[in-house]
Amino acid sequence: MQLILKHLVNMSSGNIHGIVKPLVFILFLLPLSSLTLSALNNSLGPNPAENIIRALGDWTLYFLLGVLAITPARSLFNIASLIRYRRMTGLFVFFYASLHFLAYIWFEQFFDMHKIIQDIIKRPFIGIGFGCFVLLIPLAITSTNKMMRRLGKNWQRLHRLVYLITGLALLHYFMMVKADYLMPVVLTLIFGVLMGYRFYQAGVMLNVLKSMIDLKAKENANER
Ligand code: HEM
Repeated sequence: MQLILKHLVNMSSGNIHGIVKPLVFILFLLPLSSLTLSALNNSLGPNPAENIIRALGDWTLYFLLGVLAITPARSLFNIASLIRYRRMTGLFVFFYASLHFLAYIWFEQFFDMHKIIQDIIKRPFIGIGFGCFVLLIPLAITSTNKMMRRLGKNWQRLHRLVYLITGLALLHYFMMVKADYLMPVVLTLIFGVLMGYRFYQAGVMLNVLKSMIDLKAKENANER
């Protein structure tokens, strides 16, 4: 099964990639299409505005976790070409976050700038959500190949912000929930597993580096 999956996705490095990429793109638009359809059919329940804001917030967070899952999935299942979908996933995070923010300033604050600023200052969970959105902006701006080349090593450093953003987004979720903590707890556990994998990988890399330094030192000692 893993072999078939690996083969299928790796085939995308060739001509299949031209088909897979638009399909993935359409997949990312499905939550928005379903939400739009529900709105048109008046089937968003008694509080449609709240449902729209919440659904868009949920999808932003799911895609954020999706971005973090790409590197572990890539090495666990040995599917190198998955990396091609990381930028697209990241840009969809920004797209859904922007819609979530837009829905909030439209349906909850009716574009009243004064009220929006007051709310960001007064309600900590709104302030944190806004912080997440602001932090996403430099990541979206620097997502191009050109920016990647221009920033060099700093690109990776800057894009590590995604961990902070996810942590803050989970906090934003926990702070707004009043009773049912199941979903934020489940998402936090997933985040924990993904972070655990990152730390484990960093540990492995450190050990490899240490043994390389030891080897070099032994070689130098033998040469003397
Ligand atoms: C990366 C950015 C953000 C993420 C990942 C995010 C995520 C979420 C999540 C998961 C929820 C809970 C949805 C649910 O109950 O199922 C939520 C709710 C909410 N978020 Fe955000 N959010 C972000 C940014 C923002 C910003 C910038 C604002 C506004 C300044 C905001 C305002 C709200 C509001 C008002 C709700 C509650 C809706 C309600 O109960 O009526 N969020 N957000």
